[in-house]
Amino acid sequence: MTAAHDAAVDLFTRLTGRTPDGVWSAPGRVNLIGEHTDYNDGFVLPFAIPQRTVAAVGRRADRRIRVASTFADEPVEVELDDLDRVFPTPAGTTPAVAEWAAYPLGVAWALRAAAAGAATGLDIAIASDVPVGAGLSSSAAIEGATATALDDLWGTGLDAVSLARIGRTAENEAVGAPTGIMDQMASMLGESDAAIFLDCRSLATEVVPLGMADAGLAVLVMDTRVTHAHSTGGYRERRAACERGAALLGVPALRDVAVADLTRAERLMDDVTFRRVRHIVTENQRVQDTVATLRARGPRAIGDLLVASHASMRDDFEISTPELDAAVETALTSGAVGARMTGGGFGGAAIALVDRDAVPLLADAVRARFTAEGFVAPHLFEVSPSAGPRRDA
Ligand code: GLA
Repeated sequence: MTAAHDAAVDLFTRLTGRTPDGVWSAPGRVNLIGEHTDYNDGFVLPFAIPQRTVAAVGRRADRRIRVASTFADEPVEVELDDLDRVFPTPAGTTPAVAEWAAYPLGVAWALRAAAAGAATGLDIAIASDVPVGAGLSSSAAIEGATATALDDLWGTGLDAVSLARIGRTAENEAVGAPTGIMDQMASMLGESDAAIFLDCRSLATEVVPLGMADAGLAVLVMDTRVTHAHSTGGYRERRAACERGAALLGVPALRDVAVADLTRAERLMDDVTFRRVRHIVTENQRVQDTVATLRARGPRAIGDLLVASHASMRDDFEISTPELDAAVETALTSGAVGARMTGGGFGGAAIALVDRDAVPLLADAVRARFTAEGFVAPHLFEVSPSAGPRRDA
């Protein structure tokens, strides 16, 4: 078992003096391509990573929910019947409980209606080896692990897509982060050596085999260790710009705009809104082109699409940072097949698709560049596409 598994069980035992009824885990994710397209009803192509969040959970005789985590000093307790007083968190405010606790408690709140009379009090102990604030969806991993555990213990019997929706409700309404559904879907539906092609309007998914090992390729995560939060600031502002663009174009969502419509779009809006729109419209096309290219020619052929995606986020959507740009540039000049920032931006991580043998040299080059620029040392590690949630004990 992993260190996070042992840490969660250990924390549970210290908290309760008992052993848990079960241990569940769910992964973080890397997004291969398709950034900020999810809340525009568009397409994304993420995969789940080996790093997981673990929830050790036991039923209680009363109706109290107590959550503890290795990254917080104090457990948080709420009566099941008080959850409706705690959530939803009004837009633009912070949760009434410590923010980390709003993820698992938000899941309990969102799942409680489906559980009806079967909902019981619970002790929940959480540990994780998904880096927090790195753009690798540590939050979706907490939601996925908690939702899977509660679904089992409360006997709600929901499918993976419904549990992903529960996670998103927790994130949007309990935590108050206006995110899309990509991260929860990637965590809940991950498959080894494959990416998940998701239509964020219908929530239809296709498993797209990646064949990284056969192609001799590795995916290197370059975590800049510049952390971000999506409940505030830039993320919310980008989302508003997309909604403004769609309204000016008279469509329900930017998903309904084709690359050929961009000339008309440019005449209808200011330059900043137009560039936000152009990123989403071209990114949706790039996701579809990436899926077609993977199927026809394999992962070595998608490099240019990754590079174009990064340029669009840097220049049109303006969510990259000097650290992310330096990581991507250095990866490309050190032999990567492709590279781009991944996740919501304003910090977090970039990925490089690189020949397995070239990883050490590329990693050295990125570290040297960060030192030369005076940046905080990056955290570099390989990830392989991995499976979704599971019961570990
Ligand atoms: C964050 C959000 C996702 C998605 C990405 C950007 O990870 O949680 O819903 O919008 O940013 O693609």
